[in-house]
Parts: sequence; structure tokens; C-alpha cells
Amino acid sequence: MFYLAAAAIVAGMIRVRHLSHSFGPHQALKDVTFSLEKGDFVFLSGPSGAGKTTLLRILYASLPIQRGEVNVADMNLNRLDSSRVPLLRRQVGVVFQDFKILPLRTVEENIALPLDLRGLAPKHIERRVRAVSRALGLEGHIKLRCGDLSGGEQQRVAIARAFVVNPKVLLADEPTGNLDPELSLRLMELFKQFQAYGATVIFATHSRELMNRHPGAYVMRLEDGAITYANWPGAGVHRPAQTWAEPLARKPASDMERGA
Ligand SMILES: Nc1ncnc2c1ncn2[C@@H]1O[C@H](COP(=O)(O)OP(=O)(O)OP(=O)(O)O)[C@@H](O)[C@H]1O
Ligand SMILES: [Mg+2]
Repeated sequence: MFYLAAAAIVAGMIRVRHLSHSFGPHQALKDVTFSLEKGDFVFLSGPSGAGKTTLLRILYASLPIQRGEVNVADMNLNRLDSSRVPLLRRQVGVVFQDFKILPLRTVEENIALPLDLRGLAPKHIERRVRAVSRALGLEGHIKLRCGDLSGGEQQRVAIARAFVVNPKVLLADEPTGNLDPELSLRLMELFKQFQAYGATVIFATHSRELMNRHPGAYVMRLEDGAITYANWPGAGVHRPAQTWAEPLARKPASDMERGA
């Protein structure tokens, strides 16, 4: 038991080592390395096309690992066969850009879906769905069909569905894209609450204002597939080639260089 606990501490909640990913000739992720522990919150920033969504998709096992090692919630994704993907997804809540709500089902049904899949008792499901709907300001809409809601309301349904399972890890890909500024800030508070309960959160966003709302969070910047900035020691920042070459240049010249 002790050894298991120690192994979990070493592994971290999310541990990514030398992860690279290509789409055909295009390298979308380049040697990405970082670790996050239980309760860490990181903003993932970077220009369009930097690889943010690609990274999140790999952490959720919706893209295969081509190169590198990935552990999420004590599961080794390199060795995860498809039958165990649902197990991973019980621990990992996701709010993606292309949130897939079911337009013909009601708000209530959409939010309850992951709990239904786990076969939880209806009373318990109802209680959780009501609590999460209230937190996201959807309580007046729970009997409406999702297809009839506004874009921002649909997005909140997707967020509610990610929160309702109390995931250990929460991956959010620009979750406030369709929301007005006030709602975005409210949502930020909810994510922070989740963190306070012990969830590990990766939150991809372009919004400086949101980042300013959580000054204690880590920040990781991706550019052209590589980490170019990170403000905690668990992340490996990519340095341009010259920076690595510099110390070599200061080394004493080899025998060959001296003409020996
Ligand atoms: N399925 C795919 N097939 C081919 N190329 C892809 C695929 N998914 C992503 N890419 C490419 O990989 C790169 C990284 O894309 P990604 O979606 O991860 O960027 P992003 O940082 O999330 O950008 P944005 O801020 O616009 O959402 C882009 O150049 C993109 O065109
Ligand atoms: Mg993206």
C-alpha cells in the first residue's frame, strides 16, 4: 500500500514526458514535458495553431500517443487499450471547443448523461444535476431542449456535464468562448472552486482578463508546438538552439580544435 502511494506521488496527477505529435508532415507538438499535481491549476496559452487542443486531446485519449509518455490520474496512457478508455474518462472531465451536447435532449438529460452511464441512483443523479445547474445559472432551463438554447447556454450545459461527475482532472478548451464577460468571470470562480476541492485543472484560453482573475495559477505557453514559457519547475521550457550552444562555446577548445 505504502509503495502504491509513493508511486502515485512520483507519477503526479498529470505527467507528460517528451511528447511529440504530428499530423502528416506538420509537427503539432514538439518534445513537451510537464507535471501537475493534485489541485494544480494551469492556464494554457499560445497563439492559434500552437497545439493547445492537440495536447488536451492526447490527455483525454482522443488522440493516440505517437512519441513520449503520458500519465493521467494514475493511468499510463501509453498502455491504455481502448477497453479502458471509459475508465480514464470517469476521472477526467472535458469542456472542448466543439462541445457535443445532444440537441434533441433536455438540459437535464444532457447534464445527467455521464451519471446515467455509471448507473447511479436516480435520486442521487437528480440532486447532483440540480446543484450543478444552479451553479451555472441553468436552473430555469432544465426542461428545455438543448437545441433551443443560445450558444452560451449550450456551452454552460457542456460545462455542467463536465462538472457533474466531480472529475479528478478537468480539461477545458476555451470554455468561455461563447459567454459574455460577466458569465466568463462567474465560470472562472467555478473552476477555482473545483481546484479548491482538489481537482487538477488545465484551462486553455487566450483571455488575459481571465488569467488575471486567478493570479495564483500556473501559466504555460505553447508556440509552434513547444513550451516557450512556464512558471513552475515541473515544466520543461524549450530554449532556442543558440541558448544551448552558448555554454559549449565557452568550454575549453578540444585537442582537435587546438590543432593537436
Ligand atoms: N486532425 C488534424 N489534422 C491535421 N492537422 C491538424 C489536426 N488537428 C490539428 N491540426 C494542426 O495542428 C496544429 C495545432 O492545432 P491545435 O488545434 O492543437 O491548435 P490550438 O493551439 O488549439 O489553436 P486554436 O487556438 O486556434 O484553437 C495546427 O496547425 C492545426 O492545423
Ligand atoms: Mg484549440
